Amino acid sequence: MEQDRSSQSRPPHVLVFPFPLQGHINSMIKLAELLAIAGFKLTFLNSHHNHERLVKFNNIAAHSERYPGFQFKTITDGLPLDHPRSGNWFLDTLEDTMELKMKESLREVLVNSSPPVDCIIGDGVLSFALDVAKELGIPIIFFRTSSPRCFWVSYSIPDIIQAGELPINGTEDMDRLVTTVPGMETYLRCRDLPTFCRKLDLEDSIFMKLVVKTTRKSLQADALILNTAEELDGPILSQIRTKCPRVYAVGPLHAQLNTRLNAKHGESYDHFSNTLWEVDKSCICWLNKQPNRSVIYVSFGSITSTSREQLVELCYGLLNSKTKFLLVVRPNSVIGKDGEGEDVVMELTEKSKDRGYIVNWAPQEEVLNHPAFGGFFTHNGWNSTLESFVAGVPMICWPYFADQHVNSRVVSEVWKIGLDMKDVCDRNILEKMVNDVMVVLRKRR
Ligand code: UDX
Repeated sequence: MEQDRSSQSRPPHVLVFPFPLQGHINSMIKLAELLAIAGFKLTFLNSHHNHERLVKFNNIAAHSERYPGFQFKTITDGLPLDHPRSGNWFLDTLEDTMELKMKESLREVLVNSSPPVDCIIGDGVLSFALDVAKELGIPIIFFRTSSPRCFWVSYSIPDIIQAGELPINGTEDMDRLVTTVPGMETYLRCRDLPTFCRKLDLEDSIFMKLVVKTTRKSLQADALILNTAEELDGPILSQIRTKCPRVYAVGPLHAQLNTRLNAKHGESYDHFSNTLWEVDKSCICWLNKQPNRSVIYVSFGSITSTSREQLVELCYGLLNSKTKFLLVVRPNSVIGKDGEGEDVVMELTEKSKDRGYIVNWAPQEEVLNHPAFGGFFTHNGWNSTLESFVAGVPMICWPYFADQHVNSRVVSEVWKIGLDMKDVCDRNILEKMVNDVMVVLRKRR
């Protein structure tokens, strides 16, 4: 059923549709705000579950007050509302439950939309949106929240396999350079590939097939938007453009949005938060009392979980470094029974006294721009990497999965603004790296 999409007398209507995770909502809602500032009518399509959390922890009503024509709509993510959605729940449900239920709901929202949707900006992970868009005759642009270099690596995986560079032959093979990803031949090692590439039975890996499928499908959309700038990823963007000419680098989105809002309303303007956890702002009072560049910020984003043993090593590395730290430990982010690792955190609190501050969730963008920070110990999610880069804070990289292994290599070897602690969790190494980042890299800034 084709709708009348003549939009001459009204602003074009764009529907933005993120994958239901914090890291995806964060950047896509910023893109939506930028489009709303530019005068588009905006529908932000969230999962019921995440929307409930957005409403609970943020002033979401303000979006429509600030931007006439901005509306939220919600659909199912395929799971019951009270499902805990812990760990990598989304990997298990993406291909069946989520795709099946979300696809149907997306179709329903589009068919019933008034005014009709003129363009979909879909999260590339939800590649089924392309089928729905084609069926309804609506133009679609895919947006990828991951780094362009990881996108390019993912696109190239069949070529890497074909060239015999995968699978990896044991641990001694991990530092071998991969030569079949054009533009990355000089620095990409097996160790830096997405972690599913470490599987010996790689060609049977469901995750690998999913990544390759969604990456290739992203290039079949009418255009592709990436959260980066030509200055950051120019050579790789040129490579991607050989497969899809309409690739737009519009980021870093948080910086673009801040610049627009500050120019329009002044520096003290209240920027929206889009957080799915309750932010503990008390850390700002603590930070205000700390000398400039004396604190390291430690956070591993919204998905990473650690084992209890890893948490102990990390805590003692921080303690032994004698550096002040702000540490984020999300509830239930330690693998095991509910509350696992709480005793480790209590012990750290006790031993670090006024040297450390621990929260469940921090106002990260604000924190990274606080003068007290001299370094960021991060998992290198793409949002965190960009936020740190823009704030000029050097990084210690401890990647967990997805694009993070590629990102940490870029941070350390290409941009040279951090140290890569990939595949290591050792208190002595962390202690040394914290000191190196706080002293050596800081001097270079
Ligand atoms: C994931 C992937 O890692 C990332 O690469 C992908 O592109 C998007 O999904 P996540 O692992 O959560 O996201 O990391 P990241 O991309 O860094 O996003 C986390 C966001 O949460 C950041 O924007 C960060 O500012 C915010 N955050 C994190 C907080 O606001 N407070 C915190 O305490 C921790």
